[in-house]
Amino acid sequence: MKHFSILLFGIFIVLTSSFLGLISSSLNQLGGLKQSTESLELDDAGELVLVDGDPLYPMKLSGSSEQGHMEYVKLGCVNCHSQQVRREELGNDLQRGFGQRVSVPRDFILQSNMVLGYSRLGPDLSSVGSRKSDLNWHLMHLYNPQITSPGSLMPPFPFLFETIKISEVAATSGALEFPEGSPYAPENGIAIIPSRRAVALVEYLLNLDINYNLPEAVVTKNDTGE
Ligand code: HEC
Repeated sequence: MKHFSILLFGIFIVLTSSFLGLISSSLNQLGGLKQSTESLELDDAGELVLVDGDPLYPMKLSGSSEQGHMEYVKLGCVNCHSQQVRREELGNDLQRGFGQRVSVPRDFILQSNMVLGYSRLGPDLSSVGSRKSDLNWHLMHLYNPQITSPGSLMPPFPFLFETIKISEVAATSGALEFPEGSPYAPENGIAIIPSRRAVALVEYLLNLDINYNLPEAVVTKNDTGE
């Protein structure tokens, strides 16, 4: 073929420029995002104004929450839970109480292991920390979701807990507090103790909350929709 080298060069240019275009346009849009102390807020006249002086958002996870994030990845929670509140046009996430504002790229800049999720067999967890803030509820739910949410499709994670005889330990603080008369409560003299992994995972869940203002995203809903 006479002009084969020109054709090859053309293909090379087209592929390279589209590839670079994809990378550089995303980098241009999102590459400069940093944590911010600025936020959009409504002034007395109901106008949106940029205000400085908030804590640095998004916040870094503490050490044990970071471990909890790793457990979340390892245990496959992401197979059933998303962490992204979609815009109104794409679904009714705000009405369902998944967050008080939609997710924006800045929410994710500190995450090395993104857990956006693709399936929603369970609710979105972007702001589960503000929706459900009781440590014992989360531990109990992890131990066996049927205790807190009868009929739940979520699998139990009993291997994150230890079953011990109360006489074996001096104090049983930290043991799960089962509701009165729960059929899942252990017999007398037995306590269910969460492992470090379980506690770290729940600390991570309690930290999940995007209900804060950013320069490009303002909390619009005041109730949790529940
Ligand atoms: C097979 C799918 C599935 C997997 C895997 C799964 N979940 Fe769930 N999850 C659900 C369903 C369904 C619900 C709703 C019913 C309920 O509350 O149990 C739920 C509810 C929840 C809730 C309560 C949310 C709310 O708004 O009430 C939390 C927190 C949660 N899951 C955390 C986890 C964590 C952490 C893991 C991994 C250790 C996990 N889930 C794994 C299906 C799943």
